[in-house]
Amino acid sequence: MKVEIVREAKLSKVGHLFVVLAEGVKPEATAVSELVDKAVKDAGFDGRSDESITLLTGTPRKLTLVGIGKKVTVRAVRTALYAIGKIARKQRDTKIAVSVPLAIPEFDAEFATRLIADALGAADYKYDPYITQRKDEKPAGPIDAVLIAPSSLDAKRVKALNAEAQAIIEGVRTVRDLGNAPSNIMTATRIAERAAEMAKETGVKCTIYGKREIERMKMGGLIAVNRGSTEEPRFITLEYSPKKAKKHIALVGKGITFDSGGISIKPAEKMEEMKFDMCGAAAVIGTIEAAAKLGLPVKITGAIPSTDNLPSGSAYKPGEIITMMNGKTVEIVNTDAEGRMILGDALHWASQQKPDHMLDYATLTGACVVALASEAAGLFTSDDELARKLIECGERVGERLWRLPEWDDYKDLVRSEWADIKNSGGRWGGAITAAIFLKEFVTCPSWAHLDIAGTAYAEHETPREAKGATGAGVRVTLEFLESLSRSS
Ligand code: BES
Ligand code: MN
Ligand code: ZN
Repeated sequence: MKVEIVREAKLSKVGHLFVVLAEGVKPEATAVSELVDKAVKDAGFDGRSDESITLLTGTPRKLTLVGIGKKVTVRAVRTALYAIGKIARKQRDTKIAVSVPLAIPEFDAEFATRLIADALGAADYKYDPYITQRKDEKPAGPIDAVLIAPSSLDAKRVKALNAEAQAIIEGVRTVRDLGNAPSNIMTATRIAERAAEMAKETGVKCTIYGKREIERMKMGGLIAVNRGSTEEPRFITLEYSPKKAKKHIALVGKGITFDSGGISIKPAEKMEEMKFDMCGAAAVIGTIEAAAKLGLPVKITGAIPSTDNLPSGSAYKPGEIITMMNGKTVEIVNTDAEGRMILGDALHWASQQKPDHMLDYATLTGACVVALASEAAGLFTSDDELARKLIECGERVGERLWRLPEWDDYKDLVRSEWADIKNSGGRWGGAITAAIFLKEFVTCPSWAHLDIAGTAYAEHETPREAKGATGAGVRVTLEFLESLSRSS
């Protein structure tokens, strides 16, 4: 929904006011305190996490109290705001106001307000460009929301926060739209076009390499995976270089537009979900979009290798040996371990750009989902300080990262008798051996790999978000980039 942060809401212009309250926590005083106090008393509202009650009030016409439970956490806030989106949609509201008169522990009012605006902006997200037949004859119009800012924020800050929230909302939406698009539409060619469109809009430099150029660059991994396809591969780079950049960060994203497994083909069940295998690429595009719109003083280089992974007479096969861009040879033992093949080349390319830190995002392994389900992304890095920072940033924005080891001792599992390394270490420790494989192509001393296989898309709707692409990676990375521009 469209969100505007305001200092005061004209309640006569609003059809529905939502007030978020916690259990046993006294809300901060607001312009609507009296109305809320009375409603709480009359309705016997406690603020439990699953509680909501709508009352008819006059001005505004409706007032809904939404509980978030005892603990005011980022996740609890997101859940409450998603619930608001659902209620507003069901009740056909088009103009709503939202007030969250609560302090989130450890957050200042500005950060909390921006986070709430961001969550509200995503609250009614639904990917529906291909729905042509609707159940209701009179679909409700789009929802316009005003978020009532805490009174401690002055007009100037509110204006700045509005612009910042908009940047984040748009970046996250880009990732979700790209991720949710079907694979017949969202081909490597189309991803490249979308990246170029974003770049043009934000003043970022975008370079698109086609098949011949990828061959000339000797990106053997990307070429090998693409061999089974009739679609051309793309290698996409994005460059955001603000004048006052203090640091240079490289972001690399896995852009498999559909992963059938190739010759080592996957079972049919849930194979349709493999359209989401480009969510890492989408995260890079959306993050750079938001960073540019926020005007962050950090140089960012994005690198996206993209193709689909299909079986055919020309597809790469188990037993083949592929020479990667950095010269290392890989024995293919499973063509379904394709993500690391295209990332190996992209990580090598990005390392050559000599960034201070390099992060990659990839729906890389089912093993990571076995370990962490959809609650956290796997984090792999040998840089303890970087790990600490990323985890902390994730915690702040409600995007959990959980560190898993990448000790060299695991290297034995990907040793090959025929080549320098093989592309699968088998079942045990599958997320770790994938990270170990990637490490072979990294020369940047401060690198982190985020396995977002479990967090990039929701298999079902959850209390916090719609089914489909979630935008995983964007918020935690923006928080990290902002922390870099604050320090040093
Ligand atoms: N794209 C998949 C990983 C994946 C699985 C993402 C489930 C989201 C949900 C990846 O390319 C893959 O197939 N990985 C294999 C690796 C194995 C062959 C070593 C896997 O996880 O089984
Ligand atoms: Mn695969
Ligand atoms: Zn894959």
